[in-house]
Amino acid sequence: MPNLAQVDPLTPQLSNEQVIERLQADRMVEGPQHASEDYIKALTRTLIVSADTELISAPSYLGAAADAPDTSSYMSVISIVQDELGHAHIAYRMLRDLGVDVDELVYGRSPGEFKYPYAFDVPLESWPEMIVANAFYDRAGFVLLSDVFDHTSYVPWKRALVKVDREETFHLRHGERWIAKLARDEDWHRRIQAAMDWMFVLTLEWFGLPDDLKKHGGQLSYGLKGQTNDQLRQTWMSATVPFAEKHDFDVPAHLDEESGEYVIDCAFPMAFDPEKKEWDHGKGEVSWDDVIDRWRAKGPANERFVTSLQRGHAALAGAA
Ligand SMILES: [Fe+2]
Ligand SMILES: [Fe+2]
Repeated sequence: MPNLAQVDPLTPQLSNEQVIERLQADRMVEGPQHASEDYIKALTRTLIVSADTELISAPSYLGAAADAPDTSSYMSVISIVQDELGHAHIAYRMLRDLGVDVDELVYGRSPGEFKYPYAFDVPLESWPEMIVANAFYDRAGFVLLSDVFDHTSYVPWKRALVKVDREETFHLRHGERWIAKLARDEDWHRRIQAAMDWMFVLTLEWFGLPDDLKKHGGQLSYGLKGQTNDQLRQTWMSATVPFAEKHDFDVPAHLDEESGEYVIDCAFPMAFDPEKKEWDHGKGEVSWDDVIDRWRAKGPANERFVTSLQRGHAALAGAA
């Protein structure tokens, strides 16, 4: 065991085998002194996706707030935006504690280098899209972060997620309450259904490649997450599908009573036109390679959203 007083606190001290042994003995990781280089790399990758996702949801939700039906609902969305910036700050702060240059991460990367679900690259442009985003996207965030909270071996993140989890619950309830309220009105019902038509499948994609194609690598073996992509997708559907059905909305999935599993009723994955916000049902199932190509190319709002977040920093740097 090295003398910890003399070593760089950011240098991982254990081998991969020692980390696995530590986790098998139910001992958690407080920092690099309890981790290996691979563990820190896997943790860093996971935290960057989480931080970028929280950050990009701010300009996305802000854009839709303009269509809020009254001042108090506008303010509710603004407070959600504020929460999301707080969540992003928590994750970036944790990256800073691991020695990552966070200023470079937030202000130095090009828009295409940010790592968040493709769904946020499709702009939200109306109140129905805003509340469906709360019900679907914030539910997805809640499912993913609850899994991290329940299973992560990295204690600093687990502690921070107590607050995040509570706020995500508020966001998804905000969406569900509004949907329940407006569903009784024929015109609102039609508009919410139209939003669900493109946003449901986009959220299914959010959970990533199916388990038979996905190499989970370090995330599962290092106890950074507990459920696989397909299990997380099931967890999300098990909340979202009954909610949609309860309010007479059609979503392309149903519960198979025999297996107790949710079954997707449309081609999946599918080709998507982000400008028209339409799935190509006629073309049928495409390959996950096609989907990955679309994700890599980014969607219509990527550059606008990232530039809006970096604008102030760029202006100050220019003035200096
Ligand atoms: Fe969040
Ligand atoms: Fe949220």
